[in-house]
Amino acid sequence: MAKGTEYMKRVVFNQKGGVGKSSISVNLAAISARRGLKTLIVDLDTQGNTSHYLVGDNANIKHTVADLFKQTVGWFLKPLPAIDFVHETPFENLYLMASDPQLANVERELESRYKMYKLKEALTELSATFDRIYIDTPPNFNFYSKAALIAADSVLIPFDCDGFSSQAIMHLLDNIMELKGDHNPELEVEGIIVNQFNAQAKLPQSLVDDLKAKDLPVLNTHLSSSVKMRESHSASKPLIHLAPRHKLTQQFCELFDELEQLS
Ligand SMILES: Nc1ncnc2c1ncn2[C@@H]1O[C@H](COP(=O)(O)OP(=O)(O)OP(=O)(O)O)[C@@H](O)[C@H]1O
Ligand SMILES: [Mg+2]
Repeated sequence: MAKGTEYMKRVVFNQKGGVGKSSISVNLAAISARRGLKTLIVDLDTQGNTSHYLVGDNANIKHTVADLFKQTVGWFLKPLPAIDFVHETPFENLYLMASDPQLANVERELESRYKMYKLKEALTELSATFDRIYIDTPPNFNFYSKAALIAADSVLIPFDCDGFSSQAIMHLLDNIMELKGDHNPELEVEGIIVNQFNAQAKLPQSLVDDLKAKDLPVLNTHLSSSVKMRESHSASKPLIHLAPRHKLTQQFCELFDELEQLS
């Protein structure tokens, strides 16, 4: 596949919990890797769902993303290069910067010392090594999601087809636009990803129509709901490896192609 499409570093963000951020980050990154692109996924959520999804129990991973941030406040004698915080996964071409519960403990100190740009510096350093970088974020507009939005070229917003999501999305876009203006003028809203879409029910379609009526960039490929997703999380195997021919996997492949402008 050709390198150099428009967006190399993508953040998946929605401050609402449980909308599919981790599921979407992992599955798009796994397809990217499967297609031969050297792909890094950064897990910025203390919950560590993405890390668990990719490598199972990650308790013995040294040099997590929390350590990367910590070394910027001088707690290490000599700062290590960003690549030292990157770990292999069982999947070819797919690499992980793992989460760690310590992210919660160091957040305040990092924020008070203005370390919000440190992730951008690290990912810029890694841009020579990786073809694609996906960043998974916590369900809050906090220090880490801001650092991710500063580091990224584009933002993908999962939308889980419930009424509350629809109201929250305008607020979310306001936050993203403010951050873009203040810290990352290059950041683009690449699109809203409709997740757990049920084509048979009326409400999801009317919610999606409502977003489109507001001129919001809803991506064409919608993801349906399937128990395979939960199975995939518990098996620590992204869908492209667990069930390559499944309908949901195919939708993820179409979404990937849409984002890479291959379809
Ligand atoms: N398309 C789907 N079909 C079925 N289940 C899904 C789908 N997408 C996500 N889920 C399930 O919904 C739950 C929440 O998904 P996920 O953890 O990806 O969301 P999140 O936005 O990362 O959550 P959090 O805000 O807690 O980080 C998980 O149990 C996941 O398995
Ligand atoms: Mg998550």
